[in-house]
Amino acid sequence: MAKVLCVLYDDPITGYPKSYARVDIPKITSYVGGQTAPTPKAIDFTPGQLLGSVSGELGLRKYLESQGHTFVVTSDKEGADSVFDKELPDADIVISQPFWPAYLTAERIAKARKLKLAITAGIGSDHVDLEAANEHGITVAEVTYSNSISVSEHAVMMILSLVRNYLPSHEWAVKGGWNIADCVQRSYDLEGMHVGTVAAGRIGLAILRRLKPFDVKLHYTDRYRLPESVERELNLTFHPDAESMVKVCDVVTINAPLHPETENLFNEALLAKMKRGAYLINTARGKICDRDAIARALESGQLAGYAGDVWFPQPAPVDHPWRTMPYNGMTPHISGTSLSAQTRYATGTREILECWFEDRPIRDEYLITKGGKLAGVGAHSYSVRELTKA
Ligand code: NAI
Repeated sequence: MAKVLCVLYDDPITGYPKSYARVDIPKITSYVGGQTAPTPKAIDFTPGQLLGSVSGELGLRKYLESQGHTFVVTSDKEGADSVFDKELPDADIVISQPFWPAYLTAERIAKARKLKLAITAGIGSDHVDLEAANEHGITVAEVTYSNSISVSEHAVMMILSLVRNYLPSHEWAVKGGWNIADCVQRSYDLEGMHVGTVAAGRIGLAILRRLKPFDVKLHYTDRYRLPESVERELNLTFHPDAESMVKVCDVVTINAPLHPETENLFNEALLAKMKRGAYLINTARGKICDRDAIARALESGQLAGYAGDVWFPQPAPVDHPWRTMPYNGMTPHISGTSLSAQTRYATGTREILECWFEDRPIRDEYLITKGGKLAGVGAHSYSVRELTKA
């Protein structure tokens, strides 16, 4: 029997919800491109419930305990005395969400002698040291596509919020003002602007599709070129690298995974190549941007706005400069954990567990590493540094 260790974010400060704003959520059965939504044999929760917090337990307790497994759920994940560190040495499976990541560092992996499977309930497995996972033969899997549309909606919202100066204008309304000029002195139309995405995978492409009706000029860069038919349909301009793209864009959105190629990509040098007064939206990973260079670019006016929901580390310390830098539209890491998204990735986590325990293959599109190397979507979208050990 397995021990499953699950790290989730805390319940709301008002307590686990007894009721919800809406009675149901739309039933999504497949995604653009034909991939089906998760298909476990059963689920033990009501779609639309809060599942990502400790009391939600991703809806997994009944299933796991009925099979005789041990299920430990905690939000306590930092430091040697944390519940996570104490429970890790004999855990067979770790489940974590990127919003409240249980960082599986090389040191922790070395201590987790029984660990065989690390599941990301969501998308983005950079909180796992993938090299160390490969060395120890740990399978890493995530629920590909489960929250890609959730993030793309959030990114479009943030682009519009920054360009139209929505958040400061809302604040004037709340505080009783009617300060039109204060609101509009930084407010523009998106129409006609050049908007580019770093990476046009599931999220990046969904953002491009959603922006098309705004009559903007669309750009992208990616390791792989999109099919010609898609480039034509969306009238896309392809760039061989981020540098050539950011030079011509008014709005840049980052949608690549965090891996050695993208870590610190948006540093002082690349920010200096951007058009003055550009907007940067990062819902991918905090470490793709140089923390202090971003704050400086906002202060100098090189960037007109920065928004996103990803930070490093997470949770971000209270004095993290992105909380208070000018013209920011930051939120905690929420875009991929709407109640709608939670339903899909909790269902997908259940599917992965069922496959694992029943010795059935996990879908290739969910795999990041397997058998000591990148696999599935991991081989397509990630890289690992060359191992230097003999
Ligand atoms: P995906 O695997 O469909 O697409 C990733 C794309 O990035 C691929 O097309 C790949 O070729 C491209 N890419 C990789 N390295 C690149 C590089 N150096 N330059 C340009 N392109 C590069 O993944 P998806 O679903 O689009 O998610 C992307 C990332 O978004 C995730 O890895 C995760 O970090 C982040 N994410 C954030 C969420 C949030 O709540 N804020 C939720 C879900 C994902």
